[in-house]
Amino acid sequence: MKTGFEKFNLQGKTALITGAAGLLGIEHAAALLESGAHVVLTDVRADELDKAVMKLIAHAPKERILTELLDVSSPEAVRCVADSLQVKGKRVDILVNNAAIDPKVKGEQGVLETSRLEHFPLDQWELQVAVGLTGAFLCSQVFGAAMAQDGKGGVVLNVASDLSVFAPDQRLYRKDELPESLQPVKPVTYSVIKAGLIGLTRYLATYWADAGVRCNALSPGGVFNGQGAEFVLRLSKLIPLGRMATHDEYRAAIQFLCSDASSYMNGQNIVMDGGRSVW
Ligand SMILES: NC(=O)c1ccc[n+]([C@@H]2O[C@H](COP(=O)([O-])OP(=O)(O)OC[C@H]3O[C@@H](n4cnc5c(N)ncnc54)[C@H](O)[C@@H]3O)[C@@H](O)[C@H]2O)c1
Repeated sequence: MKTGFEKFNLQGKTALITGAAGLLGIEHAAALLESGAHVVLTDVRADELDKAVMKLIAHAPKERILTELLDVSSPEAVRCVADSLQVKGKRVDILVNNAAIDPKVKGEQGVLETSRLEHFPLDQWELQVAVGLTGAFLCSQVFGAAMAQDGKGGVVLNVASDLSVFAPDQRLYRKDELPESLQPVKPVTYSVIKAGLIGLTRYLATYWADAGVRCNALSPGGVFNGQGAEFVLRLSKLIPLGRMATHDEYRAAIQFLCSDASSYMNGQNIVMDGGRSVW
C-alpha cells in the first residue's frame, strides 16, 4: 500500500494536457513532471509549444516531454493524436482538459460592444463552446474511454473557473468614460462553458467509475498576468486573501487531483479562489 507522499508519485504515468502552451497549461505540465509523470503537451500553437518545451526542460528530462499539435474541437484531430500516441507506445493515464478561448475584456470607443449579450456574435459563441466544452467532451470520449477499456483506469481533470460557481461581477470591467451601452463585460460563453464543464465532470465521474476512471474539476480564480492596476485592485477587493493568484499556485492542486493522493475524490469541483466564493 502506498503511504503519505508516495501517493503523489506519478512515475510511469503519462499525462496529456490540452492548451498546454498557455499560461496555466505549462504550469500543469511542470507540476506533473515534478511528480514524475511523462507529459504530452498539446495545443494549436506549434511555436508556443516549442517555447513551452524549452522552459520545461530546464527542470525535467526531455525524454519525459512529448508534444502533439491538437485542435480539441476537431474529432479527427483528437483521434489522430490518440493513434499517434498508441504508435509511440504511450498510454494516456491522465487527461487534463485545460484548453479554452478566453478573449480579454477590453472595451473600446465604438458603435458596438460585442462582448455584451445583446451583440455577442454567434460565431464566437460556437467557437468558444467548441474549444472549451466540446473539446473537453471529445478528448474525454477518446482518452477517457481508452482508460476505461483496458481496465487500468485513470484520471480526467477538467479545468473550469471560479465562474463555474458564481456569475461574473461585470463591475470589474467597467470603463467610466464609456456609456452604458458600450460597457464591456465578461462574455456569456465563459459562464456557460465553465458551468457545463462541471456537469461533464459529474457525468464522467459516475460513467466510468466501475472501470477506475475518476473525474474531478479544478476551478481556479484569476491569475495575475500583468492586468491593469485598476482591474487588479477592484478584483482583489472581492477576494478575502486580498490578491489574485500567482501562476504557480495551482500546481499542488494539480498534483493532488491527478494522483492517488486524491484516490477517493470523484465528481468534485475544487474551487481555489482565495475565498472569493465564500464572501
Ligand atoms: N488564467 C486565469 O486567470 C484563469 C482563471 C480561471 C480559469 N482559467 C482556465 O484555465 C485554463 C487555462 O487558462 P490560461 O490562462 O492558461 O489560458 P491561455 O489562453 O493562456 O491558454 C489557453 C491555451 O489554449 C489553447 N487553445 C486555444 N484554442 C485551442 C484549440 N482549439 N485546441 C487546443 N488548444 C487551444 C491556446 O493556444 C492557449 O495556449 C482555461 O480553461 C481557463 O479558462 C484561467
